[in-house]
Amino acid sequence: RSIALIGAPVDGGAGMSGCIMGPAALRVANIGGALSDLGFAVEDWGDVTPETVSLSLGGQTHHENEVAGFARALYKNGVDAFSKGMLPIFLGGDHSLSMGTVTAAARHAAAMGKTLHVLWLDAHPDFNRPDTSHSGNMHGMSAAFFCGEPGFDGILEQPIDPVDPRHFHVFGVRSIDQKEGELLRERGVDVMDMRHIDERGVASLIRSVLEAVKRDDAMLHVSLDVDFLDPACAPGVGTTVPGGATYREAHLAMEMICDSGLMTSLDLVELNPYLDERGKSTRMLVNLTESGFGRRVFDRPTTAY
Ligand code: ARG
Ligand code: MN
Ligand code: MN
Ligand code: MN
Repeated sequence: RSIALIGAPVDGGAGMSGCIMGPAALRVANIGGALSDLGFAVEDWGDVTPETVSLSLGGQTHHENEVAGFARALYKNGVDAFSKGMLPIFLGGDHSLSMGTVTAAARHAAAMGKTLHVLWLDAHPDFNRPDTSHSGNMHGMSAAFFCGEPGFDGILEQPIDPVDPRHFHVFGVRSIDQKEGELLRERGVDVMDMRHIDERGVASLIRSVLEAVKRDDAMLHVSLDVDFLDPACAPGVGTTVPGGATYREAHLAMEMICDSGLMTSLDLVELNPYLDERGKSTRMLVNLTESGFGRRVFDRPTTAY
């Protein structure tokens, strides 16, 4: 199975800059070598070139042209990778990049007569629309966009294949805005917050997601936001929220995803190397990616975190 690494140094979607350095940091931590060591044929496609876009969204939305420029380029690169039979890993970049990556996966799924499930490992559901967002930051809107919510006209040039909100699985959330929460309920999004994880455990919840994907014979896009993790193990992100997934919980989730053989694409997002501590969060993301592609915790040499 071959993997395409696709860099997406977008950071206009976040409230704070720094994610622009994410793809570079992941390459410094040798994400490509780690995956080749696991037996994959890895191609690094470099960073995408954002397209030039001129549009204006509602509310007080910030940087829509930068975000849309990256989304269009990522959409095309993603569709290209899928059509070559490759598994794309998108190196972010802030979470607005999923506007391009998830829509590419959904397009490919539709072309194959399949549906797409999305597993969103994140402290936030990122389900705001321009008219509900308090911040205007587009990294908080990507899921609303690919689930077909209104208010995003002109981001991509073509109509999207919207993800069924019931196939949007949000895992690890602990920060939801008021109107965002109402919208999640109305749409029937599958929200698994930290309390669910505390009561039922990662294994049972992730298993239920994977079973739904299998039942639908669907594709599975996994989107991993650094703030899914507890700030203690991953401080290198602009939107830390206390009480996140532990090292062990996050690895377990990735290991189960790997064992299912269902994942068809992956985003690694919101890494802000400027805020990191001696590469800790970058290494954490690379190690989680390794778990997602077959490396086991007990195979890993003990390193100090
Ligand atoms: N809900 C907040 C907002 O809309 C925070 C979003 C954080 N998103 C993220 N990808 N870190 O601004
Ligand atoms: Mn996010
Ligand atoms: Mn987040
Ligand atoms: Mn279904």
